[in-house]
Amino acid sequence: MSSIASQARHIRTQMETRPKGLIQHVQRVLVEALDLAVCWEADPARVELATWGHDLFRAEKPGNLLRMAREIGISIEPADEAEPVLLHGPIAAAVLRDRFKVSDEESIAAVRDHTLGLAEMPLIAKIILIADKVEPNKRRRDPAMKAIRRIARRDLDTALLCWADWKWVQERTHHYTSHPQHWRARQQWVAEHHLDRAMPPRTPDDDAGGVAS
Ligand SMILES: [Fe+2]
Ligand SMILES: [Fe+2]
Repeated sequence: MSSIASQARHIRTQMETRPKGLIQHVQRVLVEALDLAVCWEADPARVELATWGHDLFRAEKPGNLLRMAREIGISIEPADEAEPVLLHGPIAAAVLRDRFKVSDEESIAAVRDHTLGLAEMPLIAKIILIADKVEPNKRRRDPAMKAIRRIARRDLDTALLCWADWKWVQERTHHYTSHPQHWRARQQWVAEHHLDRAMPPRTPDDDAGGVAS
């Protein structure tokens, strides 16, 4: 079985056959992702592999994406039919596994879910999703990404939730529909955010039903 590093090199070679603008985007994402990997002590080799793989099929035409997804056996929701670009991550994940023999499940999840997110995501997937959204061109396009980039250095989960909030506003403003996978993820992130597990431990007085002050 080939190493993560040699798989990443192979995927990079493939990515470098794609349109120049897309390659440059991936290079910018890589800088962000490796920086976050240092912050959060993620494996840089896996982060690099997932970054080179995440947009392998981003430049494909909608009809091609739908055909490929059907051939691979990816389940296609009505929201994907309406916007086939959403399939580029799941298709890349399947191709990484089948053609590039990637077996690292966290890297595969990072590639698959980098567009919509998922309720439960491994660290690498959180890093790739955020890096993809806050690379310099996207920060220039939308200043909210600057704040999300800053938050990601303190708390990745809060950064994900802020991105989901931003996305929600975009979808409502422009009358886009929310993809069910993203909406489920968002609901989970909101629920986790409101859990009181980050609060100080309960004191005995709490359990004794003392009068609140
Ligand atoms: Fe993408
Ligand atoms: Fe991307």
